[in-house]
Amino acid sequence: MSGAPLLAAENISVAFGAGARLLLAVRNVSLAVDPGEAVGIVGESGSGKSTLARVLAGLQLPTEGVARYRGRAIFEGESAYPGAMRREVQMVFQDPYGSLNPRMTALAAVAEACRFHERCSAAAARERAVTLLADMGIGVGDAVKKPRQLSGGQRQRTSVARALAARPSLLIADEPTSAIDQSAQAQLLNLFNRLRSGGLAIVLVSHDLAVIRYLCTRVHVMHEGEFVESGETHDVFERPRHAYTQALIASIPGRTRRTAATVSGTNRE
Ligand SMILES: Nc1ncnc2c1ncn2[C@@H]1O[C@H](COP(=O)(O)OP(=O)(O)O)[C@@H](O)[C@H]1O
Ligand SMILES: [Mg+2]
Repeated sequence: MSGAPLLAAENISVAFGAGARLLLAVRNVSLAVDPGEAVGIVGESGSGKSTLARVLAGLQLPTEGVARYRGRAIFEGESAYPGAMRREVQMVFQDPYGSLNPRMTALAAVAEACRFHERCSAAAARERAVTLLADMGIGVGDAVKKPRQLSGGQRQRTSVARALAARPSLLIADEPTSAIDQSAQAQLLNLFNRLRSGGLAIVLVSHDLAVIRYLCTRVHVMHEGEFVESGETHDVFERPRHAYTQALIASIPGRTRRTAATVSGTNRE
């Protein structure tokens, strides 16, 4: 590892609206992601997670603060991730319907991305798409299906395959497991874990601390636009300092009414 973070965001704030309707969706947050590291952002709905993720992905200009990728500001004026940087950072959303064309098969969608990024022949793109989809657990039989014929988990894995077509160094995933059932969630998290082991850095946004704990070494707990707690995931689990974090831990299914002390006793990390 170079020692320098892959992505570093400093004092990011995002305001929407103005005057009496001013809303500070993100308030002065800073974070760093090292190469090959998975960093979690957790918080309840409306806490500002997606707005922050969109800033990191270059889709939302921050009102204040600067985000740097490999030391270079990701925004140059209004445009983000200039030049070759754009390919390196990919985003996956909660609802893959938004990023998948309903009329295109999974194979065609991934092949299109391969062709765009590699500028290769249609045949080579198709071959690579077959491999990428197979890596995501989608065989040729399912690869020729359109999004609505696939399961939620297969759709999500197709959009991950599409993102991976760019050979990214950083994947930003916004609630990727929220719209899929438990076994599909487990499968997707396994895949993310494998990708991370292979060197991919991941920013994982979730309202679910259990999902974050599985994948991420560091976590930021977001509440009303602020990071109220940040640290190594197992430390935050074992010794949550903020009442909001304690409430999030208590809300993990199967842990209802347990105290943080009980959670630490069952933490396997
Ligand atoms: N484009 C926008 N315009 C105005 N308000 C927005 C916009 N996007 C998000 N918000 C508001 O910012 C706050 C944080 O939203 P969001 O980042 O989506 O939170 P989360 O992903 O944690 O649910 C919410 O109050 C939301 O309504
Ligand atoms: Mg969100």
